[in-house]
Amino acid sequence: MNRSDFLKTSALAGAAVVGRPLITFAQKSTFRTALIGSGWWGMNILRCAMQAGESKVVALCDVDGRQLTKTAEEVGKLSSDRPKLYRDYRELLSREKPEIVIVATPDHWHPLIAIEAMRQGAHVYVEKPIGHTVNEGRAMVKTARDTGRVCQVGTHRRVSPHNVSGMEFLKSGKAGKIGMVRAFVHYAGGPGQRVPDEEVPKELDWNFYCGPAPLVPYNRTIHPRGFRNYLNFANGTLGDWGIHWLDQILWWTEEKYPKKVFSTGGRAIKQDNTDAPDHQVAAFEFEDFTAVWEHRQFAGNNAEKTHPRQAVGAYFYGTEGTFHMGWLDGWTFYPADANKPVIHQDAKLDKPDDQNIALLWTDFLDAIKSKRRPVCDIEIGHRSTNAALLGMLSYKLGRSIAWDGEKEQILNDPEASKLLSRDYRGEWQYPV
Ligand SMILES: NC(=O)c1ccc[n+]([C@@H]2O[C@H](COP(=O)([O-])OP(=O)(O)OC[C@H]3O[C@@H](n4cnc5c(N)ncnc54)[C@H](O)[C@@H]3O)[C@@H](O)[C@H]2O)c1
Repeated sequence: MNRSDFLKTSALAGAAVVGRPLITFAQKSTFRTALIGSGWWGMNILRCAMQAGESKVVALCDVDGRQLTKTAEEVGKLSSDRPKLYRDYRELLSREKPEIVIVATPDHWHPLIAIEAMRQGAHVYVEKPIGHTVNEGRAMVKTARDTGRVCQVGTHRRVSPHNVSGMEFLKSGKAGKIGMVRAFVHYAGGPGQRVPDEEVPKELDWNFYCGPAPLVPYNRTIHPRGFRNYLNFANGTLGDWGIHWLDQILWWTEEKYPKKVFSTGGRAIKQDNTDAPDHQVAAFEFEDFTAVWEHRQFAGNNAEKTHPRQAVGAYFYGTEGTFHMGWLDGWTFYPADANKPVIHQDAKLDKPDDQNIALLWTDFLDAIKSKRRPVCDIEIGHRSTNAALLGMLSYKLGRSIAWDGEKEQILNDPEASKLLSRDYRGEWQYPV
């Protein structure tokens, strides 16, 4: 398929999903677009950017040459764009001066790259969680405001059709007064096994990959995609998945943050190289309700499966019944009165990977053009990331914390407060 066929097919597919009219070519602008972090999810976003037809892909960046080659090949197949390839995002930004930058590296790199991109004048689409520690997020919000750049966070569930209609259902009061929410992700899995460290592959700049995080021996279970379960680079399942569902809770409630957070968990089963908890519970005390997060990476949880392939989502418990916001399974409301019918809405998701990035990208472009805040603005992503990171902070600390969300400070606990930032390695400076 050539570029114009690709654009036609994908635009039609997009229009069918969204039910919106096609935008004519004459109305479109072309943004010089760069992808930093050319892995699995980065390519998913870039594909949607190309399908939207308003991007010229001018550059790709990755510290692993193999990822760069793969991504460049796909871009070449989908379009006539021939992006320049970079290992160092700073060179890319200063030479190419992109107007849009997608940041899809592992979490520990998001803040430095997103901040530098905005400083260099680019609008940024940054992946969730927006950072590794809370104060990095503050610096990202400040940079977006100081530079006036649009900064969209990849929490695409805010635009997914069933999440939107589910949220309308909840906010209209049809589930009654909600007193508790339980969000969860359960996967099957076993103990796993240890994989020995290895020589760094010649195409990979491992020192750069580790960047501001500690330099650890290279292990193939970290890269690609495995970083999620390594606490140097990410924050485990709560940081990876929890933020999506905590974001749904913060979308539903008028409250902006929890007042108290407590988390516990551990590694009951896993015996592999990872160090993130294989099961965890986190409780978030809000003014008017309590939220609980729960994950396991073992036992599968067939008992609570909401879809043949998964046990994920959030249950909102209201006086009128229980509402389940799911993923592949859409949403379902189970009335408290057993005589009333169950109400259900299917999901409308895009391939690959059953997401709605295209809709979020459309909003991103519109926010840039109309100079408004995007639907997943950095401040919203920061608050949702904070909730997940505070859960992890309490887990690491081993006690509950009281949170002043206005000042973004932990109350009366200097040891806990230190964990709102982290030491950066070598030449890298913690953003302020
Ligand atoms: N919104 C969502 O639903 C969703 C889904 C999946 C992943 N994500 C997020 O996307 C991000 C990437 O995840 P992934 O699964 O694609 O990981 P991945 O390992 O497939 O890709 C990350 C890439 O970043 C590269 N990289 C590392 N440091 C870099 C640097 N300094 N400069 C340039 N490139 C660098 C790595 O070499 C790797 O190729 C994560 O933050 C993840 O949480 C979001």
